[in-house]
Amino acid sequence: MIVYFNGKYVSLEEAKISPYDRGFHYADGVYEALRSYNGKLFRVDSHMRRLKYSLTELNIKLDDINQFESVSLQLAEINKILPHDFSVYIQVTRGVQFPRKHNYENNPTHTVFVSVSKLKDNSEHLEKGVKIILEEDIRWTRCDIKSISLLPSVMAKTKAVNLDAYEAVFHRDDLITEGSHTNFFAVKKGVVYTAPLSNFILEGITREVIIELCIKNKIRIEEEYIKVSDIKNYDEFFITGTTTEITPVIQIDDWVVGNGSPGKLTRVLQKYFQEHITSFN
Ligand SMILES: Cc1ncc(COP(=O)(O)O)c(C=O)c1O
Repeated sequence: MIVYFNGKYVSLEEAKISPYDRGFHYADGVYEALRSYNGKLFRVDSHMRRLKYSLTELNIKLDDINQFESVSLQLAEINKILPHDFSVYIQVTRGVQFPRKHNYENNPTHTVFVSVSKLKDNSEHLEKGVKIILEEDIRWTRCDIKSISLLPSVMAKTKAVNLDAYEAVFHRDDLITEGSHTNFFAVKKGVVYTAPLSNFILEGITREVIIELCIKNKIRIEEEYIKVSDIKNYDEFFITGTTTEITPVIQIDDWVVGNGSPGKLTRVLQKYFQEHITSFN
């Protein structure tokens, strides 16, 4: 497997990171994840905007963000993934600093890593829906930054998988924020709800697409918190993400939603989403 590492295309074995990398010591870095449809990168501009935002918030200066588009396509070609669809993982850490100390100095050489992999088939999840669990949101209060500091998400997702669930969805007290790697939506009486943008959630690119599709198709969408205490008053749920797309939620903890199959409006949105990605450029 060939990866992009600090400006070069090298084999995975050659991509060696210093133990004094601040990513290793402090999770001092950010990442971005995107994907292709039909060999083209989906919403690459939005992903690059979000990456730039995360870097800027952490005061990591990286000049050539737009290189990642051509690097990703190049990696897909070198690794002979095309015409299969692929995901792209981009990680930038502040870089190496010796000796170890909390405060960073200006302009160390950043560590930049990009890899691509063939996307797995998620059709069963899209078709049948998944179970999720609800977990207290113990993450930091800058979830708008796509930071590589992901331990609460790692713990929650692992708990979910061990309980045969696909995702852990977080709540701060009564307010549902988002999943460990997804945004969360609910439907009540034909209206779609999702948490408002704030420092408590990541601005999901798929979330952005769903909002656009709702507006375009005259489906009412409200950026309002869904409450745990009110959850049983909603009719449908789904989670969204770059590789999760629109995945229906059919069980929350021990509660089977409705008749245990994906909701009607969720199906409609999946159809609009499918149409959108087949014609996106
Ligand atoms: C915490 C969190 N929320 C939401 C999302 C969904 O974002 P997107 O639709 O851009 O993949 C992700 C994706 O990784 C995430 O990590």
